[in-house]
This record gives sequence, structure tokens and C-alpha cells, in this order.
Amino acid sequence: MTTTKLHRIHTVAASAATVLVLSLMLILLSCVTTHEGANGGAITKVAHRGGSLLAPENTLAAFQRGIDEGCDAIELDVHLSRDGRLIVMHDPSLFRTTAVEGYVSQWSAAEIKDLDARASWRGEGEYGVQRVPTLEEVLDLIVRQERHVELQVEIKTDQKDRRYGGIEEAVVNALRSYGLIERTVIISFDFPTLLRVREIEPALRLGALVNRKYLETIGMAGPAAVAASIADLGVEYVAINYAYLSQKLFDEFRRSGLLIGAWTVNNEKDIRRISAMGVDFITSDRPDLLRELLP
Ligand code: G3P
Ligand code: CA
Repeated sequence: MTTTKLHRIHTVAASAATVLVLSLMLILLSCVTTHEGANGGAITKVAHRGGSLLAPENTLAAFQRGIDEGCDAIELDVHLSRDGRLIVMHDPSLFRTTAVEGYVSQWSAAEIKDLDARASWRGEGEYGVQRVPTLEEVLDLIVRQERHVELQVEIKTDQKDRRYGGIEEAVVNALRSYGLIERTVIISFDFPTLLRVREIEPALRLGALVNRKYLETIGMAGPAAVAASIADLGVEYVAINYAYLSQKLFDEFRRSGLLIGAWTVNNEKDIRRISAMGVDFITSDRPDLLRELLP
């Protein structure tokens, strides 16, 4: 072989190696940036239902308390009333939190607003009558804060686990009218709901909630299959009950490029363990503990 030929082979090999090294660097860089959470790389502290061990859940008092305790985001649940208004409540039934028989879907917003949302409150601290808030009232509270507060809006299904017709449009319109699209993650156990939100407003971040039923079906195929099926939805976040978050599942979520959240972590030992895994957000009923234990 001539010297010129040898030189050409070396040059081609060197270029290929350079391309390979650059590609690897790009892949590594994209992994690092993809996994930076909403809180500048720190774990995002999320007040679950506002912080339901500190104040009556899903009330304006709870949301203000979660914010005052220093949470980066508040989490809330929404249903649709009979007259198509967004009602902030966890259950489709009114009973647990208001002690009145009936379902959100069967009552008007005005009727629901007459109820007191303290029926399930067993914690310390006196709270006056707490009206069931509409989503708009919570958004108004958020935009009136002096600091930047984010939102996780969980879109629920009704008492028969059916999607509320038009709930996604209603949530998106409410967020748009308060200028809160960029500050919000829409979360749901119901994945068609998430896909519908993406159709309406692609700028909204989405989070798939993984429940036990999901783990007992898709989950039987193993952590890699769970991560792949969530990543296929095209969502940015996955969130899971911390009790089901094994290291293997965490690693698979990461490999799939997902940001990872865990709920509802309410004691020191578990907050320390889950934060050490490197999750992107922790959702807790104890915002005071999150403040104490996380930077
Ligand atoms: O943030 C997710 C978590 O809220 C889901 O569970 O039942 O409290 O709505 P749940
Ligand atoms: Ca929730």
C-alpha cells in the first residue's frame, strides 16, 4: 500500500472517530439537560392538595399555606360541575370533604360553593369555613403571589371513571386567561386526557401518573416496558406513588428521558430516601417537612 493511500485511510478513520466522539458528547449533553427539573436542577417541592396535613385539603387556605411553607408548586385536583365549571376537589363524590351526599357532576357550581370543605380535616389548627374553590379562584391566588409559584393540575374522571366532556378545554382556557400555561404541568392517571390536552395546547407540560392498576397490568412486563409505554405518550413527566418507585424503575424512567416525580411522601425517612434517588419533584402533604429537608 502506498503512503498516500495509508494517509487517506488514517484521515478517514480519524474523521469517523471525531464524529463518534462528538455524537457521544451530544448524547451525554442532551441527557444532562433533559433531566434538569423545573426548579433549576433542585428537587421541586410540591404541596399535595395544598398540603393536606397542614390545612383542609384543596382549599384556598391550604394552597396559601403550601406557598407560605416555601413550596415551588401546588398540586390540586379538578372535576366538572353539572353546569360545566371547574371544581377543585379530590373525590368525584362531595361526601368525604363536605359531608353532603352527591357527586360534583350532579351539582351546580353555585350549589357546591355553599358547602364547607372542612369535613375531612382532622389536623391541628383552627380554620374558618372553607368554600370549595373553583380552579379560577386558585389561579387568581397564584397570580397574586409575590413570588413565582408553579402548578400541577390533576384532571380527574367522574364517579364512573369516565372523562368529563370538555374538561380539558375548560382547564386550558382557564390557564390561558390567567397567563399560567408556562407555569403548569397537567397531570392525570387517564392518559387520553393528557393526549387531548396536548392537542389543544402543545405548550403545556404533561405528567403521566402511574397507579397500581397500571403496574399490575403493563408493569407485569417489567420496569423497561413501563418506562417505554409512558415515554411513548410523549409526556415530559412521570409520577408514581413513592412506595412503587424501585431503583430499577427509576433508572428505566431516566433512560427513557422522563422527568420523575414521587407522591405522597410525608415523613423524614422517605423524603430523604426518595430525594437521594435524584427525583425531579416530591409531592407531600407536609410542605413544612419539604422545606426543612430539601434545599
Ligand atoms: O400528585 C399525584 C397524586 O395527587 C395522585 O394521587 O389520589 O392524591 O390524586 P391522588
Ligand atoms: Ca391529585
